[in-house]
Amino acid sequence: MKDWLKVAMPKGRIYKQATKLFKEAGLPTPEDYGDSRKLIIPVPELEMEFIMAKPVDVPTYVEYGAADIGLVGKDVLMEEDRDVYELLDLGIAKCRMSIIGTKDWEPVFNPKVATKYPNVASQYFRQQGQQVEVIKLNGSIELAPLIGLADRIVDMVETGQTIRENGLEELEEMFSITSRLIANRVSYRLKNERIQRLCDQLQSVIGQEGTK
Ligand code: PRP
Repeated sequence: MKDWLKVAMPKGRIYKQATKLFKEAGLPTPEDYGDSRKLIIPVPELEMEFIMAKPVDVPTYVEYGAADIGLVGKDVLMEEDRDVYELLDLGIAKCRMSIIGTKDWEPVFNPKVATKYPNVASQYFRQQGQQVEVIKLNGSIELAPLIGLADRIVDMVETGQTIRENGLEELEEMFSITSRLIANRVSYRLKNERIQRLCDQLQSVIGQEGTK
């Protein structure tokens, strides 16, 4: 099993589009092989295994070589800042990272900004020359300006439904986000042929109608 190609697959939002892309590329997907609660799913004929990971942990598995490659959102990749290769923009799970506020928001000195992405947000505001206090939250970020925890938030916007339904407003788009294929630096050398083949297969279907 040691030489098998270990692929970290994020559970959650990206998963459905990732498996669709794999299918279109003629690659196996975890559901072809595993029970829904299994965390390690072997694909013996390809000497490959899927590691079902929490999305935010994918860059960690890949940096430490517990997974050779992984699929991850650019948002997580920026926030985690891990020492990995970014091989491919998969073009899936398109969304944006934005600054969001209440409709009646007014500038204040040293505003509080709540986010799941404290590193990205701090760096962004620093580069803009804006002084802010960043507050880390783990979910339901849109609550923060509604209940007086923060003046603004930095969060993902996909359909815009969450901000609309909570009476919030997108003030500024910071980054456009898609999912990426990343690789461990050593694995990329040692398992180069297999990783490259998988990249080529994915590349051939990326951006085609229906994969977005
Ligand atoms: C994400 C994000 C927004 C929402 C955006 O949250 O943090 O809240 O999705 O999507 P929309 O524009 O299509 O409404 P997620 O569902 O991942 O849950 P979370 O609140 O735990 O972060």
